[in-house]
Amino acid sequence: MKTADTYIRQTHQYEDPFYIFLGEDADDPASHYKYIGKSGTGNVEIEESCAFQLEFLKTQGLRKVHTLMDLGCGSLRAGIRFMPFLNTGNYLGIDISKEALRRGIEDEVGFDLIDKKRPEFVLSDAWEFNLFSKKPNYIIANSVFTHLRTENTKLCFESLQSYLQEAPFQFFATFTQSLEEKPRQPPIDHYYGGTGACTYSVEQFAALGEAQGWKHDFIGDWGHFRNKAESPIVKFQMMMRFYRD
Ligand SMILES: C[S@@+](CC[C@H](N)C(=O)[O-])C[C@H]1O[C@@H](n2cnc3c(N)ncnc32)[C@H](O)[C@@H]1O
Repeated sequence: MKTADTYIRQTHQYEDPFYIFLGEDADDPASHYKYIGKSGTGNVEIEESCAFQLEFLKTQGLRKVHTLMDLGCGSLRAGIRFMPFLNTGNYLGIDISKEALRRGIEDEVGFDLIDKKRPEFVLSDAWEFNLFSKKPNYIIANSVFTHLRTENTKLCFESLQSYLQEAPFQFFATFTQSLEEKPRQPPIDHYYGGTGACTYSVEQFAALGEAQGWKHDFIGDWGHFRNKAESPIVKFQMMMRFYRD
């Protein structure tokens, strides 16, 4: 029988944070929606939550000939729209959770589309971008660095830079913007049990890219449903574009 394993590149085994994060709920066949965030099953229609990342990237110049990396692709909520749009072989998905990726491949997207579009999937807890066969022109990380400590986000940016080298790229990354004087750092990453948000000023988040020699534009509100949420201390899912011409 065909399984997701055939399509996943992985160098070593480790504990899947899916089970740490969900506990007993992991047995629920729909619990991957909870793992990637409730927009798939909560107050936003599934169609909208799948389509908006593609619609945004199209406004930023994404075309079917480009190669797109979905960094922290989860259970392919956005991938399910990216794959039909892009030319064959042009979707690259990387995530730390095997179970999220498995459900994305087997239950959400399905083998027919996967076999037709031949995406590449990397499973890694160490930002192993070099397991992909090609470099992306576009990268999107929706709601990934919102959940990680700065130390881990820095490691991701360093690994990405050492993979991309001098290649031109556009990297769209969301973060939680702090409106407080002192941004917050959780003691532990969200998927390993951390509950606090990791927040940044715009300048602090931009500086993580500057350290890699990348340019940036602060886009801010990009149409994510969380952009509308009111809070006196943060703005949710703000968008930063890092790039090299
Ligand atoms: C909130 S979900 C967003 C998923 C997807 N980007 C979307 O828009 O549906 C965050 C994703 O980041 C992944 N993630 C967290 N830490 C990671 C790491 N160190 N390496 C790769 N992926 C990671 C999680 O497994 C999860 O699938």
